[in-house]
Amino acid sequence: MDYLEIEGGSPLCGEVRIQGSKNAVLPILSAALLYPGVTVLENCPGISDVASMLEILKGYGCTTLREGNKLIIDAGNLHSGRAPEDYAGVMRSSIMLLGSLLGRLGEAFLPYPGGCVIGKRPIDLHLKALREMGAQLQEEPEGIRAVCAHPKGARIRLPFPSVGATENVILLAVRAEGTTVLENAAREPEITELCRFLCSMGARIRGAGTGTVMVTGVQRLHETEFTIMPDRIVAGTYMLLTAAAGGKVILRDVPLWQLASVRKTLAGMGVRLEGKDLKETKKGEGKLDEKASDVLLFSPGRIRGGLQISTAPYPGFPTDLQSPLMAALCTAEGESVVEERIFEARFKTAEELIRMGADICIQGSRACIRGTGRLHGERVEARELRGGAALCIAAAAAEGKTTIHQYHYIARGYENIIRDLKALGVVVNYG
Ligand code: EPZ
Repeated sequence: MDYLEIEGGSPLCGEVRIQGSKNAVLPILSAALLYPGVTVLENCPGISDVASMLEILKGYGCTTLREGNKLIIDAGNLHSGRAPEDYAGVMRSSIMLLGSLLGRLGEAFLPYPGGCVIGKRPIDLHLKALREMGAQLQEEPEGIRAVCAHPKGARIRLPFPSVGATENVILLAVRAEGTTVLENAAREPEITELCRFLCSMGARIRGAGTGTVMVTGVQRLHETEFTIMPDRIVAGTYMLLTAAAGGKVILRDVPLWQLASVRKTLAGMGVRLEGKDLKETKKGEGKLDEKASDVLLFSPGRIRGGLQISTAPYPGFPTDLQSPLMAALCTAEGESVVEERIFEARFKTAEELIRMGADICIQGSRACIRGTGRLHGERVEARELRGGAALCIAAAAAEGKTTIHQYHYIARGYENIIRDLKALGVVVNYG
């Protein structure tokens, strides 16, 4: 029946381990094509976007094997072929295959990646950057025909720090002749993780995570085994869930150093975080260790509102947590304003929250949220991945029963949200 049933209104109590990162494993699956042999990935989340990507890789001649959260990919018999339409078209991440297929084979045909309800999702920045490295890209009715027999290093400046365009340039640059300098590159932790993976295969990359990434092309890469980092967006989702529903939870394997903007927002709401890495030094400086740790969260249940938050490229507040934040602010005291500055249509979930009793007014790229204290259970529809997660947050905080339909959107990025919500003390069942 593809829906979740949540009985809300009680404070949370429990603990959950954070899954591997969706937005790290997808570009890394593309990067695995660069090596003509076996790649082993650990801590891969069991989400439908990974399953779709594996089907696409098979369409290009790879063999793949999943053993729990371990993935084994053999790209030895990779051919340019053609991605299975029904997968590549529905998933945005398929565009990231362009850089790796050109880097490995010098040619590719790729169906256009799916757009989605959050925005048109154009790929002009990808195409412009790859052309500067010598790629010939023909936009045909069903997709993009690409040829690039001898990719050349180039100095490229992105007009916007696009995550996907940054990833595509790095993937092609690893096998290009000479050095590529990418300016105004995306700084997201998923870029750093992709570069860490590529360097573990023998790539030569500097500046990952800064605005300027330098890649010196290499002749060959070697086998690697790699463990995917935890998912900062899933961690942030469960932090905002706790804020909204109240209670005391433990989150394990949290990449805290990647969540500074979220931690600041939670503090503003009156949510307390404790964890061994959180003891700042006396003078208040000191960097958090860049390794996942366990976090204790305490939320009073009725959180403080009156916040003004704008989404921004990393290290700003992540656009992927904008809907979960909006859901949490619906239960806060006071009026808050959330501004979406990355995607042009990412407020669709507000309509469903309003049906649950939320007081939200959308004006262009800004949402004004007046905390009503209590939402009520309703029949609602997920429209896309993070909006669906936001509805789970609202349902856990609402009085009464909520059914969330189109659950499959949530399964694209959350390995088993039913398992996780139950572990945190939410009364939830699959319809
Ligand atoms: C990645 O998408 C993530 N997806 C998104 O997560 C995330 O929201 C986004 O980065 C921003 O952080 C994956 O990593 C698989 P962009 P991506 O290129 O690469 C415009 C989720 O929920 N743009 O940084 O597509 C674009 O329209 C998903 O996990 C162009 O105009 O994001 C958007 O407004 C949703 N032309 C902005 O840039 C281009 O050629 C950011 O896009 C490319 C992008």
